[in-house]
Amino acid sequence: MKVLVTGGAGYIGSHTVLILLEAGHEVVVLDNLCNASREALRRVERLVGRELVFVEGDIRDRALLDQLLVEWPISAVIHFAGLKAVGESVQQPLAYYANNVAGTITLCQAMQAAGVQRLVFSSSATVYGADAPVPYQETMPRGQATSPYGASKAMVEQVLEDLCRSNDLWSVAALRYFNPIGAHPSGEIGEDPQGIPNNLMPFIAQVASGRRNTLSIFGNDYSTADGTCERDYLHVMDLAEGHVAALAHITTPGIACYNLGTGNAFSVLQMVERFSVVNGVEVPYAFAPRRAGDLPAFWADPGKAGAELGWVARRSLDDMMRDTWRWQQRNPYGYRQGYATQTP
Ligand code: NAD
Ligand code: UD1
Repeated sequence: MKVLVTGGAGYIGSHTVLILLEAGHEVVVLDNLCNASREALRRVERLVGRELVFVEGDIRDRALLDQLLVEWPISAVIHFAGLKAVGESVQQPLAYYANNVAGTITLCQAMQAAGVQRLVFSSSATVYGADAPVPYQETMPRGQATSPYGASKAMVEQVLEDLCRSNDLWSVAALRYFNPIGAHPSGEIGEDPQGIPNNLMPFIAQVASGRRNTLSIFGNDYSTADGTCERDYLHVMDLAEGHVAALAHITTPGIACYNLGTGNAFSVLQMVERFSVVNGVEVPYAFAPRRAGDLPAFWADPGKAGAELGWVARRSLDDMMRDTWRWQQRNPYGYRQGYATQTP
């Protein structure tokens, strides 16, 4: 199948492109490189031994989308492109709504005009909102968003629901990711945050490598076993496989939402300790005040994805730790260092 992958040069996108190519699909990537490097896709091509088509451009460029969808006989779209920094979304809500909401609408308009109506969308566990009971299940309603980023994901789900209701040629899977971490086991592709990482795992890895001094653990007075927040971390390779499973499934009209998580939660302290033990490296940390907007604990009920997509997260927490560290060691400054040759 020929698949258009928007945002395919990014963290989750690049791993998914790799799995798609390995599964024999043909891939066209559209990415404006606002938070990614072209090098990621070169490495994907090298790892798989197959080529992809890369188009540098923006999902809000309707003329470009029209041209792309005519030029390539695209069967389906996997849509990762968007902005994802929660704190930044509070500062710049318009940029988030323009990229994530208006951008998706432009993409869907172009798809509809071209008769391409199969879509896999990157949603987030954040759509359940602050008050949902755990574990999160897809039967629960979307909750009150805690940031413009979260609101943008919930809005897009609503747009896609209405679109599917209006026209039964549309078939959509909205994948609600929990906390993706890790990297391809080769250590060649991984998460490459610009500047100071917002998320836990890249921060741990940069402290372990000496690039940063100390991890701040945001809050140790939550109502959890050790007082630090608990999350459902899943390996990015498992997440990538979830997209290929969803792609095979979007053959019937309508929209379906799926939780992609492991169903297990680990605390921040457990993550730090496990990273240290598995990789034999120190991660100095200090407790700091809570981060605004953080929830104490949430995790997935991944049963629906298991039953309907035949997808389960297979990789262990130790795999996530090892693969994160391999990527970090081989690429201490991400893709900007070029192709590192040292081995861990
Ligand atoms: P990422 O920033 O690494 O990837 C997003 C990609 O989209 C980047 O390559 C960026 O250059 C590109 N992009 C952004 N705006 C664009 C535009 N207007 N036109 C074309 N390209 C554009 O992020 P990621 O972690 O790979 O996340 C991918 C998707 O999954 C995002 O939609 C994100 O919101 C969602 N998501 C991520 C997480 C997570 O923890 N990483 C969790 C839940 C949902
Ligand atoms: C965050 C976003 C969420 C988004 C997800 C993936 C917030 C409030 N939520 O989720 O909407 O979908 O990223 O992009 O930003 N932590 C530390 N020290 C750090 C970094 C993190 O203690 O330096 C803690 C956090 O307080 C949290 C846990 O680690 O308890 C995980 O944090 P993070 O990786 O940012 O993910 P989420 O907050 O779950």
